[in-house]
Amino acid sequence: SSNRQWGGRFSSGPAAIMEKINASIDFDRRLFAEDIEGSLAHVQMLVEQKIVSAEDGRAIADGLRTILQEFGEGKMRVDPALEDIHTHVEARLKELIGPAAGRLHTARSRNDQVATDLRLWVRKELDAADRGFADLQQALLDQAERHADTIMPGFTHLQSAQPVTFGHHMMAYVEMFGRDRGRLQDCRRRMNECPLGAAALAGTSFPIDRQATAGTLGFDRPTANSLDAVSDRDFALEYLSTAAIAASHLSRLAEEIVIWSSAQFRFVTCSDSFSTGSSIMPQKKNPDAAELIRGKAGRLYGNLTSLLVVMKGLPMTYGKDMQEDKEPVFDTADNLALCVAAMTGMIAELTVNEGPMLAAAGSGFSTATDLADWLVRVLGMPFRDAHHVTGELVRLAEEKAVDLDGLALDDMRAVEPRITEALFDVLGVANSVNSRQSYGGTAPAQVRAQIARWREALR
Ligand code: ARG
Repeated sequence: SSNRQWGGRFSSGPAAIMEKINASIDFDRRLFAEDIEGSLAHVQMLVEQKIVSAEDGRAIADGLRTILQEFGEGKMRVDPALEDIHTHVEARLKELIGPAAGRLHTARSRNDQVATDLRLWVRKELDAADRGFADLQQALLDQAERHADTIMPGFTHLQSAQPVTFGHHMMAYVEMFGRDRGRLQDCRRRMNECPLGAAALAGTSFPIDRQATAGTLGFDRPTANSLDAVSDRDFALEYLSTAAIAASHLSRLAEEIVIWSSAQFRFVTCSDSFSTGSSIMPQKKNPDAAELIRGKAGRLYGNLTSLLVVMKGLPMTYGKDMQEDKEPVFDTADNLALCVAAMTGMIAELTVNEGPMLAAAGSGFSTATDLADWLVRVLGMPFRDAHHVTGELVRLAEEKAVDLDGLALDDMRAVEPRITEALFDVLGVANSVNSRQSYGGTAPAQVRAQIARWREALR
């Protein structure tokens, strides 16, 4: 029996296992709408260029619209012998309109077709992700506004460093997700060129109009080199790497929620709707959503790595290896959307426990820097000397098992005789936070200014 698709050249059909390894329809069926959109643009151009008659063009376009509806309703008859979504659409078109269907593939190859489809699909995902991150930023902003004055410990090395506010901490993530959105937008700008018309690799002898198809499909311009057009997947790599970086931010926030919601911290309480219980321990309320977001970051890094390795060393131009581009892209899109939506819900419903945060903020000698700054400002000490004196005071407090403001003035004077009662004013956490008025600093006035800038930017 001859091969059903490429009959002319073949005297036998594929082995069953060949059919299986070759078929991509199980996953690339997700490209059906983009595939049909691309074909509609292509056939319209073929008619305008008088490469296909108006009559055939109409029949093809009507047929394609019918298929779009059918496949949209889940009515796709999948046949692995037909390999992929492109041939499924064409085969169905032939059933619907007869031999004229065969004219659609004039001046086109599946190589430029699939490159176009995937770009259209990724472009739509970039826009969706950008909207998702904007919603997350809003949820963070709302928490920041509620807690612009809520004092918490700031950490370095996960050791108490200096008091900050919870609003300030939330705004740090607004900045991160803002850069992620910038990367998504950059990626979109760079990828928005249309490969359609590159054909198999060398272009075509038909008088096509690539500007026209590019314009119809919302691309800024056609790709400039046909070899590059069919072999480039760096738009997908850029999307996957952008998603991976964003996932690292989501994962860091997720990890903080895990830590903060532990009994040892009690800084926040996750809402019941984003927690799960234990089948054996009745007291448990676990931050599973946060843990899954943390875990999925690993998966998104894996998707990026997969495609990087697939593309490495591929000679120009198209190679079937490149069919492996789709699953990582789809998987990243699905899981990134899940993570962003779950994080948005979790942040919106997070209860902030001001008491434990404030208590923790005052412990661990977190205002030692304020003390050293006072020695510089009031006594005129060089900062390095002030650092040393403060270190001695911290050691003394540690020995006596008190905080810095628990030391007696006489004990302090034994270390540095010029210290006065006024020093105690700077040892409070509220004072410490309020004093950090430098641009971008943790003082509530500064945090409110950050919030106002972002509210404006997000409008
Ligand atoms: N299913 C293929 C892919 O996803 C479409 C392109 C096929 N091109 C080819 N020359 N075999 O990459």
